[in-house]
Amino acid sequence: MSSPSRKILITSALPYANGSIHLGHMVEYIQTDIWSRFQKLQGHECYYVCADDAHGTPIMLRARGEGIEPEDLIARVWKEHTEDFAGFGIDFDNYHSTHSDENKACASLIYERNRDAGHIARRTISQAYDPEANMFLPDRFIKGTCPKCGADDQYGDNCEACGATYSPTELKNPVSAVSGATPIEKDSEHLFFKLADFEKTLKDWHQAGHVQAEMANKLDEWFEAGLADWDISRDAPYFGFEIPDAPNKYFYVWLDAPIGYMASFRNLCDKKGIDFDSFWKADSDAELYHFIGKDIIYFHALFWPAMLQGAGFRMPTSVFAHGFLTVDGAKMSKSRGTFVKARTYLKHLNPEYLRYYFAAKLSSKIDDLDLNLDDFAQRVNADLVGKVVNIASRNAGFIKKRFDNKLSATCSEPELYQSFVDAGDQIAAHYENRDYGRAIREIMALADKANQYIDDKAPWVIAKEDGKDQELHDISSVGINLFRVLMGYLKPVLPVMAADAEAFLNIEPMTWNSQAKPLCDHSVNKFKPLMTRVEREKIDAMIEDSKEDLAAEAKVIGKGAAQNTANSAIDPIADTIEFDDFAKVDLRIARIIKAEHVEGADKLLQLTLDIGDGTRNVFAGIKSAYQPEDLEGKLTVMVANLAARKMRFGLSEGMVLAAGPGGKDLFILNPDDGAQPGMRVK
Ligand code: MSP
Ligand code: ZN
Repeated sequence: MSSPSRKILITSALPYANGSIHLGHMVEYIQTDIWSRFQKLQGHECYYVCADDAHGTPIMLRARGEGIEPEDLIARVWKEHTEDFAGFGIDFDNYHSTHSDENKACASLIYERNRDAGHIARRTISQAYDPEANMFLPDRFIKGTCPKCGADDQYGDNCEACGATYSPTELKNPVSAVSGATPIEKDSEHLFFKLADFEKTLKDWHQAGHVQAEMANKLDEWFEAGLADWDISRDAPYFGFEIPDAPNKYFYVWLDAPIGYMASFRNLCDKKGIDFDSFWKADSDAELYHFIGKDIIYFHALFWPAMLQGAGFRMPTSVFAHGFLTVDGAKMSKSRGTFVKARTYLKHLNPEYLRYYFAAKLSSKIDDLDLNLDDFAQRVNADLVGKVVNIASRNAGFIKKRFDNKLSATCSEPELYQSFVDAGDQIAAHYENRDYGRAIREIMALADKANQYIDDKAPWVIAKEDGKDQELHDISSVGINLFRVLMGYLKPVLPVMAADAEAFLNIEPMTWNSQAKPLCDHSVNKFKPLMTRVEREKIDAMIEDSKEDLAAEAKVIGKGAAQNTANSAIDPIADTIEFDDFAKVDLRIARIIKAEHVEGADKLLQLTLDIGDGTRNVFAGIKSAYQPEDLEGKLTVMVANLAARKMRFGLSEGMVLAAGPGGKDLFILNPDDGAQPGMRVK
């Protein structure tokens, strides 16, 4: 393929800076990374940028709950996120933060240009206000009784029981999730982005094929419903950027989040001397692509292009949405252990297994994608180990033992080889169209063809016959050369395995076209196994470990905002419970009579607790803070009537209470010595 070099800027959505990266996120970062690597292998000038999304109420409250500054929280999470992404081979050209100078400058500029062009309105609105916490409450931070079906404990914007949507003022018995106070109504002036000004622009842009077909349908519904003004301001206290001409008011997190794409790129341009304007000016000939999940289409296909247009910048070339991850057919679940953090996965399994599995299942559609754990093991083992690596390993032995690691002087199967090279255009088209599943199927069909060739030639038979050295040499060399072409095609998906293959083949890093000619009269290096089989026990250990993460988290009380869930990043700081719920909890004084390390667990200690009428065995996620010997003899508080829970390491019969942000700062509740084991805690 010899398309002229293109200029391409690619982004993935910016993950919130208040939670860990999990396998759901990884669908997106792996999908984008494969595309970015593919474009770079094609020789295009391509940049892939991302950042942490660091602003907003949940982050502010989480930092407050941990007793730290938001800046410290986002710095810590930034480090975690970048390490997790590196672990999965996500090769960003830049990973920035929305809480940056560049973003402040870009956000102000985009706001001011829109304002000066008349696209910003101001008006006073009335909103729920927490009179104890002295802050306005986002919908998700108000809970109450559903006005439609009467279900208790529902969020301010929609009911999980009956699916109704409403405004927080319609909720019955509303309470603030921040302080528990009853919210009052309070007036405040807000700034609005007049989205309807861009109706024609947006319709034209959608019709010009910049969005997927399924997305276009969704957008038509939104156009029918009418484009409402968008509230882009929030009152203090808020963690974000103050609005230049509106003191004490801040840009809503979703205003400066997509601008974070631009800011991350600006930061890269400043470091590398790239021409920023040539990518962002209105008549830019560069391409701009945003990969996102289906939950954030509204922001990317309406607000963002409109804001760009209003500020005189170019609009995106395309917005590519993907579906959500399920595990074994169901939504990721913390209690089932299928809410797997990136970090937990990396402790147990090779990241390239997951890259391959996601690639094999991804298409250009917005459908959800299932990680079926049995299928995952089976697929990786059958395809990568059974087919691809097998081609190399069954030939490398002869090349080494019989031919001093040197390949034949000529290729004995030029047509077969050429058919592998010719398949490259079709495979490239599939990658380009984000039909990775199809690309993988074509590559595996080639792998079958290569294995079939070896089977037909049966070099292990020829090896035993006299005078057939040349034939043996030719067959094995063809096998190695076919393997090389396949690895070139898999390189966007499996960068580490491809690099190992390059080391074995003793070649320069491959590009998309560098396999056009076979390697002849070429010395290769010693062959090392390029990938080992997925073991089901490792998958099971990862699932158990994810349950352990939960057990460790559950013990930390007063921790602030909950972790992000699979679907929503905004969780209230704490759900309220009724008195009756509280009364059910049987809290007892317990003496820790024995504390031990648990073989194979990173976070847990095994405690034997005396609660007066006998002993209980409890696994507690407090290893980061305590040595076993420091605990023995101490009193603590335990939940005595928690249902026993079978863990990988044994039965856990209760839970001890601790407080603190986690890590070293985690303190078990430690009543003083008047208390006696077995006493109830009131
Ligand atoms: N901060 C916003 C995005 C701002 S972009 C200017 C956000 N963050 S997020 O952390 O909740 O999600 C980041 C990306 O991961 C989103 O595109 C989201 O759709 C995707 N996913 C989060 N959970 C997911 C699954 N369970 N499955 C697939 N993708 C998921 O949204
Ligand atoms: Zn309801």
